[in-house]
Amino acid sequence: MPTVYNWQIGRDMTFPYEGHRPEKQFAYVFDLNKCIDCQTCTIACKTTWTSGKGQEVMLWNNVETKPYGFFPMGWDVKILDMLGAQEWKGDVYAGKTLFEAAEKGEPVLGYLPEDIDYASPNVGEDDCLGMVEGGAYHANEHLSWMFYLPRICNHCTYPGCLGSCPRKAAYKRPQDGIVLIDQGRCRGYRECIKGCPYKRPFFNNHTRTSEKCIACYPFVEQGQQPQCVTMCIGKIRLTGYLSEHDKPQKDNPIDYLVHVRKVALPLYPQFGLEPNVYYIPPVHVPPRYLRQMFGPRVEEAVQTYRKAKDDKELLGALMLFGSTERILKQFRVEKDSVVGIDLMNGSEAVRVPFTEPTVVRPFRDEQHLVYRHNIT
Ligand code: SF4
Ligand code: F3S
Repeated sequence: MPTVYNWQIGRDMTFPYEGHRPEKQFAYVFDLNKCIDCQTCTIACKTTWTSGKGQEVMLWNNVETKPYGFFPMGWDVKILDMLGAQEWKGDVYAGKTLFEAAEKGEPVLGYLPEDIDYASPNVGEDDCLGMVEGGAYHANEHLSWMFYLPRICNHCTYPGCLGSCPRKAAYKRPQDGIVLIDQGRCRGYRECIKGCPYKRPFFNNHTRTSEKCIACYPFVEQGQQPQCVTMCIGKIRLTGYLSEHDKPQKDNPIDYLVHVRKVALPLYPQFGLEPNVYYIPPVHVPPRYLRQMFGPRVEEAVQTYRKAKDDKELLGALMLFGSTERILKQFRVEKDSVVGIDLMNGSEAVRVPFTEPTVVRPFRDEQHLVYRHNIT
């Protein structure tokens, strides 16, 4: 099997195909401290792409509550259990990736969920780990916790779906790294579902093919962010193009958050797929849990994020989330605001003030000679 370099695990690894990095990689950053589980992203995606026959149980985007939420049921605990011990030595992953742990003759370690596993997309929603006594809260140590984890296809650099499809129907676009399934080639073998540890391809019982998140490529090709990003009420999402890990551009917001400040981390990097959805970890969750989910740099990321309020550049990058429908290629911090530059035409796409202007309406409206209520 060919050997490829995976920067997220700090070493070479085996992969069924020669590594071909795309010209540029479309990537997402999700800030988990801001997600409110409103599921607007889920519905934005559903109404745009999966309202057809055979797509009833498909959620290309879903939001699950960790630690007890899963879609499909148990997706991550099952594959983590199959993979066995996962050890890091510093920034280098010392255990096996899913490609390295595959049984003889198989491209990747995986499993196919049962139909019933898709029956309860909201299982575990809002369930905390541990009980909170009535009225109590934990000021310093979070013994009881939960957080919301929005999930889409990670448009992996080394996709398990692509690596395992015998028909070569799953492919990665060279121009932007978006991973698609060619519906004309697909014969419904479902090896892609088995081989994707994140369980992002879904089988369509009507067309008898598998379908998945397409990163809203018709929007992206026009310089527009995907539907789940622009519709997000919590403003937790930002997209753009990620440079290679050793050639980051400091003024590119995605590079800045992932490569320069390292505040956004991949989901289960130890699987070895080099996923391209990056998460800013939730600051209130025990590091032991987060370390397994986001790798050894998670505590550092939390520390950096906690200081963002006093760090104008980082704060500026974070304030671009949810501020524009356009994909940004650059940002710069000015005295009172952060400016985002449009990828397509280089013009100013958005300007966000550090302090929102506040208007205080007086209790007595002299123009209409009335008093206003509820304006304390
Ligand atoms: Fe393929 Fe799954 Fe990676 Fe998406 S998340 S590219 S479906 S392996
Ligand atoms: Fe291949 Fe998956 Fe279709 S394995 S043939 S893309 S169902």
